[in-house]
Amino acid sequence: MFENLLFGIDGVMATLTINRPDKRNAVNNATVEEIDRALSEVENNPDLRVLILTGTGEKAFVAGADIHELAKRDTLLGRTESRRRQEVYTRIEHLEIPSIAAINGWALGTGLELAMACTLRLASSNAMLGQPEVKLGITPGAGGTQRLTRLVGMGRAMEMILTGDPIDAEHALFIGLVNRVVEPAQLMPEARQLAETLASRPKLALQYAKEAVMRSPEGSLAEGLAHESYLHALSCGTRDKQEGVTAFLEKRDPQFTGR
Ligand code: COA
Repeated sequence: MFENLLFGIDGVMATLTINRPDKRNAVNNATVEEIDRALSEVENNPDLRVLILTGTGEKAFVAGADIHELAKRDTLLGRTESRRRQEVYTRIEHLEIPSIAAINGWALGTGLELAMACTLRLASSNAMLGQPEVKLGITPGAGGTQRLTRLVGMGRAMEMILTGDPIDAEHALFIGLVNRVVEPAQLMPEARQLAETLASRPKLALQYAKEAVMRSPEGSLAEGLAHESYLHALSCGTRDKQEGVTAFLEKRDPQFTGR
């Protein structure tokens, strides 16, 4: 079904694996279109509760855009290919369900941009993360200047983007670019465990909370607070809210139904 991806569903969990190991999982334009198609499958499957995104092998998550295609990018293609990647990565960011990037090695350029579009990031201890575009004479074009700045602040984003030098997983943890660092063999088990935790939470509360948090860097505090109130009110009307509060008062585990 896909040439450059592996896409699997296991119960409530979908796993999307960029699968071009001989190219260090570099994302070419065809891969972007396949990611977009896989996202349609995720969106159209109401049973799914979490998406894990990773790369094949232990060397690379994604070692950037495919440099053979970059070689052909002129001004016009630069604009269209940048916009297309932004669109597809933004689709990941706005999925109703949370996504986890399991960063199993190099996450460079479009690879880091892809990971940053996910809700959470786990890194293996051998991961290296960077925006090396300037070393090729270009600037990031798939969200790097915007999402990196929002995640780690302007000073740190500037340093990474202007030097183009990658940082290791521990430093990425220190600056808040990744949520956790684990040994390579533990990466997927840890990602699945985190996915199970997320899947055990009430679906709508997670969806609304994610939307509220994502709003926070946009607009004013007053707008953010108003939106938070609106989403909180929606969460108060769910069956899972009744169940969560009742279960606590009855000293039992809640049985959430996602409604
Ligand atoms: N696009 C296309 N092919 C790529 C690639 C990319 N972004 N990154 C790696 N490859 C290919 C290499 O050309 C090589 O192919 P070959 O065997 O046909 O020569 C193969 O993947 C293995 O790469 P190699 O460089 O030998 O692996 P490594 O483990 O020594 O180094 C990296 C890994 C990620 C450090 C190195 O491949 C690299 O710097 N890649 C480019 C990163 C980059 O600048 N990306 C673009 C950001 S915009």
